[in-house]
Amino acid sequence: MNGIGIFDSGVGGLTVLKAMIDLLPEENYIYYCDAKNLPYGEKSPEQIRKLSYESFKIFEKNKVKASIIACNTATTYSEAYLKTKFNFPILGVVSSGVMEGFKNSKNKKIALIATKATVEGQVYQDQLKKLDPSFEIRALACPDLVTAIEMGHVDDKKVEEIIKKYLDQLEDFDYDTLILGCTHFPLALGKIKEYLKNKKEGEKINLIDPALETAKSMKDFLKSRNIIEKNKNIKFLTSGEDSQLREMVGKLFGQEFANKIQIEIIN
Ligand code: DGL
Repeated sequence: MNGIGIFDSGVGGLTVLKAMIDLLPEENYIYYCDAKNLPYGEKSPEQIRKLSYESFKIFEKNKVKASIIACNTATTYSEAYLKTKFNFPILGVVSSGVMEGFKNSKNKKIALIATKATVEGQVYQDQLKKLDPSFEIRALACPDLVTAIEMGHVDDKKVEEIIKKYLDQLEDFDYDTLILGCTHFPLALGKIKEYLKNKKEGEKINLIDPALETAKSMKDFLKSRNIIEKNKNIKFLTSGEDSQLREMVGKLFGQEFANKIQIEIIN
C-alpha cells in the first residue's frame, strides 16, 4: 500500500497534512498540489471537477490506500463526482467544518470565509441549515487572502491588511463562530486571531479549522480497517513551482525538514 493521498490546489492542504502527521506521524503520505491551476476558487464548477479528476488520477497511479480532498473548493464541486470515479476511499473537508460549526456555535450565527466558488456552491450554508434551519450564516469570499497566503504571506503586514479588509465586512454581524472554509486560511491563524482579539474584545469567537476533524476521521477509518502503516515516508508532488511549496513546508514543519524533501514536478 502506498499511503494517503492529500490534494489541494496549493499550499493550503499542508494544514491537513500537518493535522494528519500530528495524529499519525509514522504513516506514508503523498501530497499533491495543482499549483499551476490555482486559484480553483475563481474557476467554474466544470473546470474544478475536471482539474480535481486529473489530480486524483495521480493518486490512482500512485496506488494510494485512501485520500483527502484537502481543498474546500474541490470538495464542494467534486467530492460526490470523484467518489463515483475512483475505487479508493475519498474524504472531503466540508462535512467536518459543518459539524464543528454546528457543535460550537451557541448563538447560531456563523461566519464563513472561503473562496468565491465555495461561497457560491452553498454547501456549507445548505448543510448547516439542514442540521438546524434557524442558523444564520454569513459567507464571505476572500480571494486575495488565498493568493497572498499561497505567495507565503502568513504572518506579515500584507496578510494583516487583507484579513482586516475582509473581516471588517462582517462588522455588523454578531457571529460567535468563524469557519475557515479554505485550507489556506489556517496558515494565517496567528493574524486572524490577532484581528479577532482586537475587534471582538472580550468575546470568545470559535475558530473552526475543518482540517483537524477531517484528520481524526481519516485516522478512525484507517484504524477500523487496520491499515495504518509505519514506514514514515512523505512524497511531495506539484504541477507548479517547487519553491513556494518548499517555503511553506519550511514554515510548517521546520527549515531542516524542508531542505531535505524532494519535490517532484508533474507536467
Ligand atoms: N485551498 C483551497 C480551498 O480550501 C482554495 C484555493 C484556491 O482557490 O485554489 O478552497
